[in-house]
Amino acid sequence: MTTLTGLIGYPLDHSLSPRIHSYWIKQYSVDAEYKLFTTPPARVRQIVKRLRDKSAAGFNVTIPHKLAVMEYLDTIDTTATRIGAVNTVIIKDGIATGTNTDAYGFIANLREGLTGRIDGDISSALTNVVLLGAGGATRAAIVALRDAGAKTITLTNRSSDKAQALAEEFSCTSIPWDEKNAALHGATLLVNTTSLGMQHQPPLDLDLSALPTNAAVHDIVYAPLETELLKTARARGNKTVDGLGMLLYQAQKAFELWHGVLPEVTPKLRAHILEPQE
Ligand code: ATR
Repeated sequence: MTTLTGLIGYPLDHSLSPRIHSYWIKQYSVDAEYKLFTTPPARVRQIVKRLRDKSAAGFNVTIPHKLAVMEYLDTIDTTATRIGAVNTVIIKDGIATGTNTDAYGFIANLREGLTGRIDGDISSALTNVVLLGAGGATRAAIVALRDAGAKTITLTNRSSDKAQALAEEFSCTSIPWDEKNAALHGATLLVNTTSLGMQHQPPLDLDLSALPTNAAVHDIVYAPLETELLKTARARGNKTVDGLGMLLYQAQKAFELWHGVLPEVTPKLRAHILEPQE
């Protein structure tokens, strides 16, 4: 029987996940399908039940259900608990487990972007990390960076109370948003986890003068692929990593959890995902 997988969220119009999963399903000849389940908030319980009843292998969860879905699952693993959100559910022998593959996606993309390997050594970039933002993506980034051995992490966010709360929870330092330019002095890695610089969003207004040129710069925004931040950083000699790989690698891990095959993230897949959607 064809294995059912998919994505629940609301709205889902622009999701790239079906493209990624369908590409691998075909490449690895897996008898499976990946469907979009547009799920208004009042329908989360219902869709989880339906997917269980249909013996789905699991499903991805996106905005706005990453927290709400938790109460309809049987267990939540440690990673999802630390991140405080579920982006992937695995259903096995009737047990629905919530996990989160965003931290894996974040660090695999960063390692691959800096070293060419998803298990490459990035320790020199992890000495002094500056993180912009304090949203859901920031939490996944902090968990990933901590697990990879990041020493000092400095957080800054427009709403300073959110940065302060995160700093307390994860033993980081928080600084005011208007001090972000100065905080780049001595940084080994700068990461943007805000939505600034994304298409249809305001630009990220950041002065990189104080950033050492041997620091790495990572933007989790992937539309556009080369943000103004990455363009400016690259022009002054910093190594840069774009955000598309985080999307691809979080999907890679979910695919492995459901189908038992770790699919490859290749330049051909990247090109396929970047083709305009009809
Ligand atoms: P996600 O789950 O994708 O991380 P989010 O939780 O909505 O999304 O977080 C968006 C991040 O972008 C937040 O850090 C947000 O800052 P606030 O916490 O102050 O809202 C940041 N962000 C969005 N628009 C911004 C803007 N115009 N200026 C500064 N920061 C902005």
